[in-house]
Amino acid sequence: MQNYKDFWDDKASTTTGAFIAVDGSANEQVLALTGAYSARQITAALDLGRADRVLELGCGVGRIGGLLAPGIAHWEGADISANMLGVARKRLAAQANVGFTELVRTSLRPLPDAGFDKAYSVAVFIHMDKEDFYLYLEELARVVKPGGLVYFDTWNLVSRVGWRRFAIEAAQYRSADFSVRKDVARNQFSTPDEVRAFLEHAGFEVLLILADSPWVQVVAQRRGAGDVAVQRERVNALAKRIAYTPLWTELFDTLLKVTTEGMSPHDALAMMNDASLGDEVPMFRAWFIEMWRANETNWGKAPAN
Ligand SMILES: C[S@@+](CC[C@H](N)C(=O)[O-])C[C@H]1O[C@@H](n2cnc3c(N)ncnc32)[C@H](O)[C@@H]1O
Repeated sequence: MQNYKDFWDDKASTTTGAFIAVDGSANEQVLALTGAYSARQITAALDLGRADRVLELGCGVGRIGGLLAPGIAHWEGADISANMLGVARKRLAAQANVGFTELVRTSLRPLPDAGFDKAYSVAVFIHMDKEDFYLYLEELARVVKPGGLVYFDTWNLVSRVGWRRFAIEAAQYRSADFSVRKDVARNQFSTPDEVRAFLEHAGFEVLLILADSPWVQVVAQRRGAGDVAVQRERVNALAKRIAYTPLWTELFDTLLKVTTEGMSPHDALAMMNDASLGDEVPMFRAWFIEMWRANETNWGKAPAN
């Protein structure tokens, strides 16, 4: 598709479709596990507290926002897709301190200047053209207060597993019809240097860039106020809590091997049955079983749980 709105509205035309488009699983419990993982990273990166008004760009079904909202003053979920926002509204209906904004392409125009203390965006910039990624950073610099913090991620071209993920995308185009424009929402990949350049031009000071996983993860501060050195020291001290762990990367790589290299799902599950490997294992196991259920035609019957 040539239009972000149509693409994501189509994916989110049903609640199940919206869930799957957000993290590959139609299961509310899996969403809660993956959401909690992201929420922990963001809480550390942005030092979230009771007084904070926080914007999520590309909020999807509120997978993360629903978990963060109880600990902050206000959570605003902005998204290009009215259908995604419809699902998010229903999921978060019990929470009083949330709002929803439908976006027009690459602009946060409905939102006021300096209206937020902090902002974040997860798994969103990976789905847009680089120009739009940059323009959204300029918009984030406008809507976040001077000195305010932002956190976001994008696919990492320069990590081992990030490259493997890119190679999967590239292979799809080897024999594609070159007269057809590539889908605007296809997966896009970045390097830490590129992200740094975008941030600096958009008006941010870079506090931390993590790039040892398939993700480039960034914490930055809007210029114009605040002590950059103090914030940089704080986020560097918390880098381990913000970063995707080596185990997360290995488990993610295992999923790639099953989906693209013919690794036996039984072998992958055996690895995910070993909870002693680390905290990420139950989350990946639940996630993987849901993927398996959606792929029973290729992989055979999924385990009951
Ligand atoms: C993979 S989902 C991630 C949702 C959410 N951030 C999460 O992690 O649960 C990507 C989200 O970004 C939104 N999105 C995609 N392109 C966008 C754009 N150009 N502007 C704003 N939102 C966009 C989609 O509608 C979708 O809700």
